[in-house]
Amino acid sequence: MRIALASDHAGYEVRNQIIDFLKSAGHEVIDCGSQHLDSVDYPDYGIRAVRAVVEGEADRAVLLCGTGIGMSIVANKFPGIRCAVCTDLYAADQARRHNDTNVLALRMRNIDPLINAQILHVWLTTPFNGGRHERRNEKIAHLESLNFKNPKGDKREKSKRR
Ligand code: RB5
Repeated sequence: MRIALASDHAGYEVRNQIIDFLKSAGHEVIDCGSQHLDSVDYPDYGIRAVRAVVEGEADRAVLLCGTGIGMSIVANKFPGIRCAVCTDLYAADQARRHNDTNVLALRMRNIDPLINAQILHVWLTTPFNGGRHERRNEKIAHLESLNFKNPKGDKREKSKRR
């Protein structure tokens, strides 16, 4: 798969290991930064990776920040994005089987990096169960169509900022 990866400073120390891990598992990585240890604002980088998924340049995204929470909040502001923060293997399994998440947010602080590697592996290799879960995701998509001004995720928001 093509995986967009974004991190803030909290993920800087392990981001390259995660990139190597993804590549060794056969994935293409779209590196959305940040590529230094300076303090940055996680939305600036999370947006890049999530937008790559919304625009079809990436199949999925992996987001790294101190807790995973800030990045996941950013991601779930975008139409068609289902992002989960996973800090254990059960969550990673269910986030794929039941929620068909296309974005994973990982916690970088106060967690064993080996657990994160296992979470990533489970999340990448576990299929969506479909069935009743498809119906539930359709209800979420319906909410997006009601609540998002730009439910198809085109680039209007980007051009407005110029
Ligand atoms: C940065 O200090 C920290 O707030 C950020 O990495 C993340 O945990 C936010 O949710």
